[in-house]
Amino acid sequence: MKDARPSVLLIVCGGIAAFKALELVRRLTERGVRVRTILTRAGARFVTPLSLQALTGERVSEELFSLTDEHEMGHIALSRGSDLIVVCPATADMLARMAAGLADDLAGAVLLATDTPVMAVPAMNVRMWLHPATRANVATLAARGVTFVGPEDGVMACHETGPGRMSEPAMIADAIMDALRPVQPPVHFPVPRPALRPLHGLRALVTAGPTHEPIDPVRYLANRSSGRQGYAIADALAQAGAAVTLISGPTILPPPPGVTLHRVETAVQMLAACDAAMPCDIAVCTAAVADWRIATPVTSKIKKTPGAPPPSLALVPNPDILAHMSRPGPARPRLVVGFAAETDDVRDNAVAKRKRKGCDWIIANDVRAQTGIMGGNENEVTLITATGSEHWPRMSKDAVACGLVRRITAAFDIAPDSPGTDTPDLPPDGVPA
Ligand code: C5P
Repeated sequence: MKDARPSVLLIVCGGIAAFKALELVRRLTERGVRVRTILTRAGARFVTPLSLQALTGERVSEELFSLTDEHEMGHIALSRGSDLIVVCPATADMLARMAAGLADDLAGAVLLATDTPVMAVPAMNVRMWLHPATRANVATLAARGVTFVGPEDGVMACHETGPGRMSEPAMIADAIMDALRPVQPPVHFPVPRPALRPLHGLRALVTAGPTHEPIDPVRYLANRSSGRQGYAIADALAQAGAAVTLISGPTILPPPPGVTLHRVETAVQMLAACDAAMPCDIAVCTAAVADWRIATPVTSKIKKTPGAPPPSLALVPNPDILAHMSRPGPARPRLVVGFAAETDDVRDNAVAKRKRKGCDWIIANDVRAQTGIMGGNENEVTLITATGSEHWPRMSKDAVACGLVRRITAAFDIAPDSPGTDTPDLPPDGVPA
């Protein structure tokens, strides 16, 4: 009889982060998930089959040509009997093997033979993660529908700092539970969220949060952006099936499940991260990028000298990421959406801004202090396209994100119920407003 529990097939590859897979198993089994595991040869150098077996209560599969395994649970059946396959840690080597479709070990054979959704949790050295080969492999896998959790920025076992560190087990467990849960319709937005994954096969880039522009090692210029709207959009795009890269300035928000997060601090870093994440089909720039940075930030703390006048700060303009993404050319995303946070003449300023920046749509919002929108959980927006505008009443930022994803889905002319990758060009005038 089929086990009623949701079932995950966990593929544990070799890497210093493999020990975290044990903690992940514990968290999943505590939440009532059946976890079966495949341990690769390299993975077995970091965790033992015995510890996985003890935690899961299931046999651990290791070899492709094990007669006992093939007799009791052939590798095809192993791939079919699960609701989700999770590759954790997903090493650079494993991502390359998945992208190439290699099937010379059990993990590879199962991944090639499966039609079950696959989630990868990368963990590797920062240079390996940023290497063009890995970027291309991740893009290939994302385009095939593999979702990614992490990696995070941080100090790694190799003492280098940057993206590559594996997400924490609690976060991975949340992403898995989300992936196992059927998509819920939003509570606030009147139109139901697309039932399946209509943006599957499309790549989306979202910028979010403020930027911090250093003055000296302890001081910086910043703004009140919380990043909530951008994170909600990244989340909604990922739930609709897009492969989402979120480039975030400093925020306290947890990464949305299944989204590849790159944390940056400054506008210049955000621009570089956006360029590294290209190409993409959809770009949504919600970040409140600082307009200026300090011309010459200093590396020592600026001292107060009694009696001396305060220092004057010379500013230089920051690159405009939205305008940069909107430049015509073969690399331009097919849809570029900007935001216009305004305090006066909101609509008129936003209409002018859309033209000036060259983006397809702009979402205007009123950020006067009394609206509580900047930093809050709600938003009241006007969607402006080339042909008109559409005012949405005040609603949660999650609901705005759902509404935007519905507009994007419609613009790419994908019926909500057909998870296709065939995306005709946008109509020249954008959505009817
Ligand atoms: O010019 P303004 O800051 O009002 O433009 C807002 C829009 O432009 C937002 O979509 C924001 O993410 C984007 N922007 C940007 N880079 C900048 C300034 C704004 O991407 N340097």
